[in-house]
Amino acid sequence: MPIQKPALSEYPINTLINDRWSPRAFDSKTVENSKLMSLLEAARWAASCNNSQPWRFIISKSEDKDAHDKAVSCFNERNQRWVKNAPVIGFVCAYKLMPNENPNRTYFYDTGMAMAQLSLQALEHNLYLHQAGGILIDKITADYSIPDNVDVVCGFGLGYQGEAESLPDELAERELEARKRNLISEFTFSNKFGEISKIFSNK
Ligand SMILES: Cc1cc2nc3c(=O)[nH]c(=O)nc-3n(C[C@H](O)[C@H](O)[C@H](O)COP(=O)(O)O)c2cc1C
Repeated sequence: MPIQKPALSEYPINTLINDRWSPRAFDSKTVENSKLMSLLEAARWAASCNNSQPWRFIISKSEDKDAHDKAVSCFNERNQRWVKNAPVIGFVCAYKLMPNENPNRTYFYDTGMAMAQLSLQALEHNLYLHQAGGILIDKITADYSIPDNVDVVCGFGLGYQGEAESLPDELAERELEARKRNLISEFTFSNKFGEISKIFSNK
């Protein structure tokens, strides 16, 4: 049975946002190309500054063992423990310049927008995404010939959920932990940054 970890939301939210979480246990079942394309299509339609669309993806599937092994080797050791079981492994990169070659101040932000859309589209196909900043940037840059005007942003594993018991004990425990978040009032201000906003006194 897939583990459900719905958001403990105080206010109603969209079902996909509610149900998304980041599992580490993946089933070995292959991810159909049509579904993978649907996820990339969702990323494609993200908003971005001046429609610059700076996101770039590197994707490998477990059917191509050499490509999959190469991707696994680009994660730090802690993340390799779980990402090796993900049937799809990827890296999201970001093009640093606007189409007119001026610097793009929001290239990381825009790329995060695309990843957020991809992660939610995944849920519609019962697929789950686990992103990982713990990756070996220099190795990825060298092994995949990443150009100077592109930054490697984040790695990820993607697939259908597997059993928590397939993970090492420490990770199996974390798989079942409740999801936690800050209060809205802790990150939303009005008059001064860091000061609790009056909007929270008359709900
Ligand atoms: C940019 C980014 C980097 C992350 N890096 C890692 C990582 O290196 N290893 C890991 O196990 N999880 C990583 N995560 C997953 C987060 O720990 C996870 O999203 C967070 O705890 C919230 O849990 P949830 O996604 O299940 O709601 C990362 C997530 C993001 C968005």
